[in-house]
Amino acid sequence: MACTIKVNLPQQSYEIAIATGGLDQLGDHLSGLGLGKKILLVSNPTVFPHYGERAINSLQSAGFDVSTCILPDGEQYKNLDSLQKIYSTALENRLERSSTMVALGGGVIGDMTGFGAATWLRGINFIQVPTTLLAMVDASIGGKTGVNHPQGKNLIGAFYQPKLVLIDPEVLKTLPKREFRAGMAEVIKYGVIWDGELFHQMEECEHLDAMEYIPLELMDAILTRSCQAKADVVSKDEKEAGLRAILNYGHTIGHAVESLTGYTQVIHGEAVGIGMVAAGEIAVELGMWTQEEAQRQNILIQKAGLATQLPAGLDIEAIIASLQLDKKVKAGKVRFILPTQIGVVTITDQVPADTIRKVLIGMVKKDR
Ligand code: NAD
Ligand code: GLY
Repeated sequence: MACTIKVNLPQQSYEIAIATGGLDQLGDHLSGLGLGKKILLVSNPTVFPHYGERAINSLQSAGFDVSTCILPDGEQYKNLDSLQKIYSTALENRLERSSTMVALGGGVIGDMTGFGAATWLRGINFIQVPTTLLAMVDASIGGKTGVNHPQGKNLIGAFYQPKLVLIDPEVLKTLPKREFRAGMAEVIKYGVIWDGELFHQMEECEHLDAMEYIPLELMDAILTRSCQAKADVVSKDEKEAGLRAILNYGHTIGHAVESLTGYTQVIHGEAVGIGMVAAGEIAVELGMWTQEEAQRQNILIQKAGLATQLPAGLDIEAIIASLQLDKKVKAGKVRFILPTQIGVVTITDQVPADTIRKVLIGMVKKDR
């Protein structure tokens, strides 16, 4: 497949290029962007052995001078220590204002590299080469960059847009299945919040839990329509003054589940799946959404191999308390994104705690 989607922004528009085998054309893609010669490629020890050499060869063939920074793999390393490593490598290699940082990896590498690029010399060029499904359809697009603080996720960061997002779907072949399923949660999210047609297309497929079960045509639609949805929303509201908040559908309860389970027992996409079930049920309880459509959403989540119940042993009152710590809290009120029909959501801070409690109690996994 080969297609291009534009992210239209007042300061700097850019393209998302989706191209099978595109990794080998990385250098050519960058040649047209007017970048300086020096590139710092940031990756991790899991992704780099698979794709590092191809990326470097392509960049060198196009005349770039490439150095690398390999950071440890994992959300626990998305911190200021890793960022310090990026800065030190940038210094060693004398990166200049015209130089470029290229992120080759999932959302963790993308978020950190973007923040490195935003802050090194007050901002140098930044390119995203996402290698997880989640990073392809979500994290690499829209310019949210940053690292975690010991007290909370993504608390240190900046809006900083890449100059290009290059997606090579072939790299998904080495992605662990669990990570693929986690990425599907964000794809289903776009179906519910924005693109009813994508939702219908996914309903027609029996299994969504591994790439080998998904027909090529549907996989193309999953990538292009998800990236288009994200590009549309970000183009309308870059800094999350309003509309962009809908991208947080499923993330309110999801973030609480993720943090209360230590970010490893339940990973981000899995938590978003659980959060979408909860948000859907809350919308039904409040009479905003039909049970039938909520059920259709939950079936898609199940077909993607994702949980629809809370992990056993998770304390419901702890989830409710944790909602207050969320970045989305405004004037003490928890903000929810709730569906009203497939493809349409609304934002509200008028959800009674008792409704949240009732829905969560209904989602408790029973030990057998
Ligand atoms: P990740 O970056 O941790 O990648 C998941 C795992 O897959 C890692 O072990 C990684 O090394 C491995 N991997 C990546 N690509 C691979 C490949 N092609 N083959 C084999 N292994 C591969 O996780 P993620 O789900 O991509 O990203 C999660 C992060 O993204 C979180 O930190 C989250 O906060 C952030 N995020 C950011 C945004 C945003 O808008 N900036 C949006 C959503 C999520
Ligand atoms: N992933 C949410 C956003 O980019 O706004």
